[in-house]
Amino acid sequence: MANPIAAYIIQRVFGIPLIVYGGVFTILCFLITASIGILVRKDKWPYSFNWHLGMAYFSLTIALVHALLAITLYL
Ligand code: HEM
Repeated sequence: MANPIAAYIIQRVFGIPLIVYGGVFTILCFLITASIGILVRKDKWPYSFNWHLGMAYFSLTIALVHALLAITLYL
């Protein structure tokens, strides 16, 4: 593979490419973000509302990185 980033992200760990782990981590972060949002609305989140916002920006950032890395497979 010509592109070194693409070659790296398809390295397999336990038979699964690294980029797939990134995707699973990304979706988990979104689910945690949404869960915190729902708990805040139900008044069942004991910590600061900022956890929802912090996780939202973190999730969006890693989703963007994940997407950009995945696109390198087609460059
Ligand atoms: C990754 C992106 C995000 C996801 C998946 C997400 C998800 C959710 C969900 C599922 C709820 C509960 C809605 C309900 O039960 O009616 C919620 C509530 C809320 N979210 Fe988000 N959210 C995200 C980003 C944001 C951002 C960026 C902001 C503000 C800048 C925000 C502000 C709020 C507010 C104000 C509430 C209502 C909390 C309350 O009822 O007191 N969210 N969110």
